[in-house]
Amino acid sequence: MEKKISEKIRYVGVNDHTKVIFEGMWPLPFGVSYNSYLVVDEKVALIDTVEAGFEKEYFDNIRSEIGDRKIDYLVVNHMEPDHSSLIGAIREQYPDIRILTSAKAVPMINGYYGVTDNIYAVKEGESVSLGKSSLTFYMAPMVHWPETMVTYLEEEKTLFSGDAFGTFGAVDGGIKDTEARLCGWLDKADSCFEEFREEMTRYYSNIVGKYGQTVQAALKKLSGLQIERICSTHGPVWENHVPDVVAYYDRLSRYEAEKGVCIVYASMYGNTAKAAKALAASLAKRGVKYAIHNLCTENVSFAYRDLFKYDTLAVGAPTYNNDIFPPAYNFMYGVCARLVKNRKFFAFGSYTWAGASVKLLNEMASRQGFELISEGMSFPQAYSGKKCDMEAVAALMAE
Ligand code: FEO
Repeated sequence: MEKKISEKIRYVGVNDHTKVIFEGMWPLPFGVSYNSYLVVDEKVALIDTVEAGFEKEYFDNIRSEIGDRKIDYLVVNHMEPDHSSLIGAIREQYPDIRILTSAKAVPMINGYYGVTDNIYAVKEGESVSLGKSSLTFYMAPMVHWPETMVTYLEEEKTLFSGDAFGTFGAVDGGIKDTEARLCGWLDKADSCFEEFREEMTRYYSNIVGKYGQTVQAALKKLSGLQIERICSTHGPVWENHVPDVVAYYDRLSRYEAEKGVCIVYASMYGNTAKAAKALAASLAKRGVKYAIHNLCTENVSFAYRDLFKYDTLAVGAPTYNNDIFPPAYNFMYGVCARLVKNRKFFAFGSYTWAGASVKLLNEMASRQGFELISEGMSFPQAYSGKKCDMEAVAALMAE
């Protein structure tokens, strides 16, 4: 893959097609990239590292760009181990390297890797010269950990943004958004941004979703910078689509969604499932966009993606132990944990001798500030259109 992003900036990251589950929770059907960059001037800076297990490829990438030149600085924008794992290995290979990071990252570097010396905690807006160019650092706490910062190379109007503007999906063919394809998955997509949009939404909703407010604060802070290139830690380098990805992160972090329905359900014997499918069919008939997810068989990652995509959430769960059937409860717990707002809500589900799930789902949704489009539909035993009229619900959702 072409590593030259510009005369000064070289890509030295790696693609991971082996990891099945990211952070122990989130599937990676298209892999993921761990991006790392060299800025080469009179001095050389390395921006972030990569996940453990890629040592040989990573050091080969670095040496293919700078040979035996020394690296003066390692900039640590973010300490999550998918980017920081090789700090110790880098220090072994480049013993004189000076680590530049935020004050909050310093104890984390010690705690994770036992590295304590030659670390300098940069301040907000502080610059470090590389010769003809310089790196400037801005704190971006909770995007997505408290120590997070971003690094700006003014001479190239380039932002090294950490996780911000990142996406799932390996980037094998080319790292720039002029070349990057998502495994040829959507080769009819109009643009790289459109091709990665679903995986970006899933990445954002799964991992950064709770931190809408702090993402908004970071976007406001960065709005004063002229940004023509974004080098994130995951996914393509954005050059052609900088306004698109910034606008999309802005929208996601405001919990803004398009008109449509995210239907999620969990079902023991298929009755709540039948109600969910009846709702989907009624929405389809009316031309309302929807997505439907079975929480008993799917990883919840995809349901969270569509929760962030659509403005209406419909949750189906039978009553279990006089409570919400656990897969649906767990999903709703994640909705609340992500501080999702501005959604319309509808609950439904079957029970055998006493219904509780719909009432309890409504209570969770109300505490979240969601607008209940009706009191929900709790029906005894088997599903039928007479007990649970999804045509009427779909008509309300289509308004
Ligand atoms: Fe890709 Fe928050 O680490």
